[in-house]
Amino acid sequence: MNEITRQILDQIPSNVKFSEEDAELLIKHKDKLLEWEDGLIEGFYDSLFNHDTTRAVFEEGERPAREQTLRDWYRRTLNGPFDDNYWEWQTYVGLVHIKRKVNNAMVAGMWGWIATYLGRKALEEFPQEEALKLISAVHSLQANVTALIVESYLKNMFVAIDKAAGLSEALLGRLVATEIDDMLAKAKSS
Ligand code: HEM
Repeated sequence: MNEITRQILDQIPSNVKFSEEDAELLIKHKDKLLEWEDGLIEGFYDSLFNHDTTRAVFEEGERPAREQTLRDWYRRTLNGPFDDNYWEWQTYVGLVHIKRKVNNAMVAGMWGWIATYLGRKALEEFPQEEALKLISAVHSLQANVTALIVESYLKNMFVAIDKAAGLSEALLGRLVATEIDDMLAKAKSS
């Protein structure tokens, strides 16, 4: 696994991180999860296209291609394996998103939507105990994938700033720490 992917995944507590059991559970229910695919793709993109800020990310006529991107991601996820290649791909998605100005608020918000959609389907179609296990596996997947997409977005931004302006992540961290003290003091007083 590459360094940036490992560093990011290491931040997540092990009881929250996506595990072998989570992988087995998703693969066990793969056929059912794949039946929910059309609703997932449609609901995801309806949300993005019904909101001006997120709709503005897309070029004219791009929706079918992006729906296919998400479909491919969902199928690759459910087909496994959850190997280094898979997690490194999620880190790469952060980079692709920077290029297209898809920010972390958009990604975090839409992950909430994905988890709620799959959770509701699970409760409708499985006995409660099994549905809860599935919901927990989806949340662990969300933890890993969101961490990789949003942290790599931030870390790659730092790398780009360093390359363009010679300002390393460590130096930037010190400058930010100084500014944050002022900002916290102002926030407290207001
Ligand atoms: C919520 C979870 C999300 C996941 C799992 C996800 C996943 C992906 C994946 C797998 C790719 C393709 C990367 C590759 O080339 O291999 C991608 C690209 C892209 N995503 Fe996302 N995405 C998410 C959220 C979003 C949101 C919220 C938006 C828009 C507001 C968005 C817009 C895009 C765009 C525009 C591309 C670039 C396509 C290109 O130019 O090739 N994504 N995403």
